[in-house]
Amino acid sequence: MNARPKVLLTRTLPAQGMDLLEGHCDLDVNREDRVMSREALKEKIKDKDGLICLLTDTIDAAIIARALRLKIIANYAVGFNNIDLVEASKRKIPVTNTPDVLTEATADLTFGLLISIARRIVEADRFLHAGRFKGWAPELLLGADIYGKILGIIGMGRIGRAVAKRARGFDMKIIYNDAQRLPATLESEYGAQYRTLRELLRESDFVSIHAPLNDRTHHLISDNEFRIMKNTAYLVNAARGTIVDEKALVKALEEKEIAGCGLDVYENEPSVAAELLHMPNALLVPHIGSASIETRAKMSLMVAENIVAVLVNHKRPANIVNPDIYD
Ligand code: GLV
Ligand code: GLV
Repeated sequence: MNARPKVLLTRTLPAQGMDLLEGHCDLDVNREDRVMSREALKEKIKDKDGLICLLTDTIDAAIIARALRLKIIANYAVGFNNIDLVEASKRKIPVTNTPDVLTEATADLTFGLLISIARRIVEADRFLHAGRFKGWAPELLLGADIYGKILGIIGMGRIGRAVAKRARGFDMKIIYNDAQRLPATLESEYGAQYRTLRELLRESDFVSIHAPLNDRTHHLISDNEFRIMKNTAYLVNAARGTIVDEKALVKALEEKEIAGCGLDVYENEPSVAAELLHMPNALLVPHIGSASIETRAKMSLMVAENIVAVLVNHKRPANIVNPDIYD
């Protein structure tokens, strides 16, 4: 019998995935509740057949160069901007992600952010907890309507579409921008109209980002874009922090170019622009888009299945993001 494949996990995952992996592989798991150090990663990757990594691990050329036996990089996330795909592909190493299973959870969180910033729910909760509720008042904590407003979705992939579905229940008008325009049948299914980015920014009451981070989307929203947005508009970002120029966002909020923002992601996680921390109209949550018990269980199973497909069954993994390596 062949030796069991050796797999490095940069962090412990929910049990569903761990159980499957333990049945087939020898696991080397970072059991500390923090990101694995780069030094440890460089050392431990040397003799591994598989790597399970997180969006907080930078898997660049220097790491891949050390991984002489590596046959798969399985990212525990849908986004894979933390991995040097070109370098992995050069070595014919399949890279996998966890799409679909986190779409609905991320869309739920997005909608939660949208409603919370518009109706000032978190601010209102703090107000009450501070003992400041002295009775109903005509102008206490007034926010903005959501119902009937214009939602601009940037990135109309799986998550963008799931957000559109929710928005229809609120009778929102949905416009979108994407590198690729949807076929007319899908546009009508989601009740979404295509706009250029500029048109979308000009028209939207809420701008919600669901694009992947890449060269095209890096700082897609910066000074110029905030100037185009309505000053009553809100920005929601549960995609990747670097799609928004965080300094420009601070400035836009300070100069009241927009009304507020709801963020799940940041340019330099886990640090957050200090100015944002003091703004009541910046709703900030710590990258919890996919953080439901059910979703994380499914994600852990999915990474484990990708590992087993490649290392045990010698098959092409279901969730490959660089399929060209098999051409
Ligand atoms: C989370 O941000 C993910 O990409 O899965
Ligand atoms: C990710 O799942 C997306 O395509 O939006």
